[in-house]
Amino acid sequence: MGTEPIIQQWVNLNGKLVPKTEASLSIYDHGFLYGDGAFEGIRVYNGNIFRLTAHLERLYRSLKSLSIEFCVPFESLTESVVDTVRQNGHNYGYIRLSVSRGVGLGLDPSKLNSPPTVIISTEQLRLYPQELYDNGLHVITTSTRVPPPVCVDPQVKSLGRYVNNIQAKMEANAAGAGEGLMLNMEGRVAEATGDNIFLINHGELTTPPTSEGALPGITRAAVIDLAKELGIPCRQSVVTLYDVYNSDEAFLTGTAAEVIPMVTCDRRTIGNGKPGPITETIINQFRKLVLVDGVKI
Ligand SMILES: Cc1ncc(COP(=O)(O)O)c(C=O)c1O
Repeated sequence: MGTEPIIQQWVNLNGKLVPKTEASLSIYDHGFLYGDGAFEGIRVYNGNIFRLTAHLERLYRSLKSLSIEFCVPFESLTESVVDTVRQNGHNYGYIRLSVSRGVGLGLDPSKLNSPPTVIISTEQLRLYPQELYDNGLHVITTSTRVPPPVCVDPQVKSLGRYVNNIQAKMEANAAGAGEGLMLNMEGRVAEATGDNIFLINHGELTTPPTSEGALPGITRAAVIDLAKELGIPCRQSVVTLYDVYNSDEAFLTGTAAEVIPMVTCDRRTIGNGKPGPITETIINQFRKLVLVDGVKI
């Protein structure tokens, strides 16, 4: 019978590798109770962990913003991520690195009885079928907004902020759309539920600045770098829905989605309704970049 051998997968739980089937958390972990923590989603391509340092730097910034006292040195965390990926034999894959404030019932962080919980796991993840990379995504604007920076700043990749994004994603699903575009409280475009947005007009790229409610995406940064290398002008500027509807091309970027064309928004056709030439150039260059840019496992 053609049964696949079951390969043991490992999870790094608080610095120790444990079998995935045995990895467990306290029911009073603040991440579970309150979404009190931060995380990163990271991809491995061709045995390289893509922009691992940038992901970890963002994680440390998120934890600092949340006043989570995280004492694991940067180098040790880097090693733990590399070890986990190596142990699981994933030359291509998706890493989830989550840190919660720790264990304790009740909101008050001074009553916690453990240091922060750290979990590193790896999976295979494909967000969209190839057909959508070839033909592009249909996107709608959701009624759920990105919270303003007077709440937890949306630049913080906190666990808790994703309740909003999940609501927005459900709106997109209900409308049969591939993604949901989220506005900030002022009604300007911030980002999609799990991706940043880029527009192309007259050969120039535009993406909303993080001050508009966009996560400082690692893929976004890679695309900005690529545009520079390719001599494609790129600016960070305020974006309205009018700009989206009237752009020549548009695409979304994110670790999970990678770079994916967007061909309609709220039933308006973007450009000629097909992935445009600049989008295709960026996708091709991004696919080359990820094979070489990263920390080797
Ligand atoms: C809300 C949101 N915006 C943007 C992104 C894209 O960021 P990155 O390219 O770092 O994955 C993500 C994914 O992490 C996200 O969750």
